[in-house]
Amino acid sequence: MTFLLDVKGLNVRFRTEFGLVHAVNEVSFSVSKGETLAVVGESGSGKSVTALALMRLLDRTALIDGEASFEGVNLFTMSEKEMQKIRGARIGMIFQDPMTALNPVFTVGDQIAEVVLIHRDCTKQEAKTRAIEMMGLVGIPDSRRRVDQYPHEFSGGMRQRAMIAMAIANSPSLLIADEPTTALDVTVQAQVMEVIRSVQESIGLTVMLITHDLGLVAGFADRIQVMYAGQLVETAERDRIFYETRNPYTRALLDSIPSQLGVPGTELKTIGGNPPSLLSPPPGCLFQPRCVHATEDCRMTRPELKSVGQNHLSRCLRSSDLGVLR
Ligand SMILES: Nc1ncnc2c1ncn2[C@@H]1O[C@H](COP(=O)(O)OP(=O)(O)OP(=O)(O)O)[C@@H](O)[C@H]1O
Ligand SMILES: [Mg+2]
Repeated sequence: MTFLLDVKGLNVRFRTEFGLVHAVNEVSFSVSKGETLAVVGESGSGKSVTALALMRLLDRTALIDGEASFEGVNLFTMSEKEMQKIRGARIGMIFQDPMTALNPVFTVGDQIAEVVLIHRDCTKQEAKTRAIEMMGLVGIPDSRRRVDQYPHEFSGGMRQRAMIAMAIANSPSLLIADEPTTALDVTVQAQVMEVIRSVQESIGLTVMLITHDLGLVAGFADRIQVMYAGQLVETAERDRIFYETRNPYTRALLDSIPSQLGVPGTELKTIGGNPPSLLSPPPGCLFQPRCVHATEDCRMTRPELKSVGQNHLSRCLRSSDLGVLR
């Protein structure tokens, strides 16, 4: 099986005045062509840093090691010039916080056309035509007129659609969408996810969807990867994550989804405590201080990511004796 993206042993550390922040630790994963991988985990778990490291968009304080093979080339060893040909062309990215990602002084159409002009040998008019076409594809009504409007004339949901149009304007093979719907209300969230899905079908996109919201990925992801404190803690096909949960952190995340997925009448649970400091991670399992299943061994021994079923990995010392967590 060849993967579109194959990441091995990714580590990202930040140099800070307080010491090294271990933001991403030994993260390995792969994404097959056409699939949707969801990366979930609470705030600070390393989701955005993983994506930004792959795009080589982290600042100089970041120390990155590992391998990231995309369409057969290593993203970490290519020159910046080669990387520029990949960014925005072969890999499209929707950044967290779309409100700041669109420039208020240029029209939405100009901003989408600009992305096309950087990567294609075409005229301004052709780029604008492409912008209108893309705006239509992501469901922006009346795109011929709206192409000349400024971001402030768009609603939040429409701006997010414009961001998607920009990310896919050069027909990338991979779209990395970092919290694409967080700032939106629930109905608009569903519409935006539907746009991503329909674009995925029409141009054959592979999607890496980053979100803290497991409810959002329930109907969308093929595979789910759960991160905690910079580590991958569980990964499997979507249904296995939901119905054959093996990692206590994933279980805790699932129990905190305020949605129709829960059984009516049951109390919504929160995860007590906070993630550990990434400056000097404690020994043992990083989730142990918050884990209802933790034993003395969990305080001392760092668990490895182990196979617990078909294409199913979990990082928990008690995986075999706890079995499926309900
Ligand atoms: N430039 C930086 N310098 C130091 N630490 C950083 C830097 N950028 C990120 N971090 C740290 O790396 C860790 C992972 O951050 P990241 O942005 O990947 O979290 P996230 O999972 O995307 O969270 P959220 O759901 O809030 O977006 C955090 O502890 C964060 O504080
Ligand atoms: Mg983030």
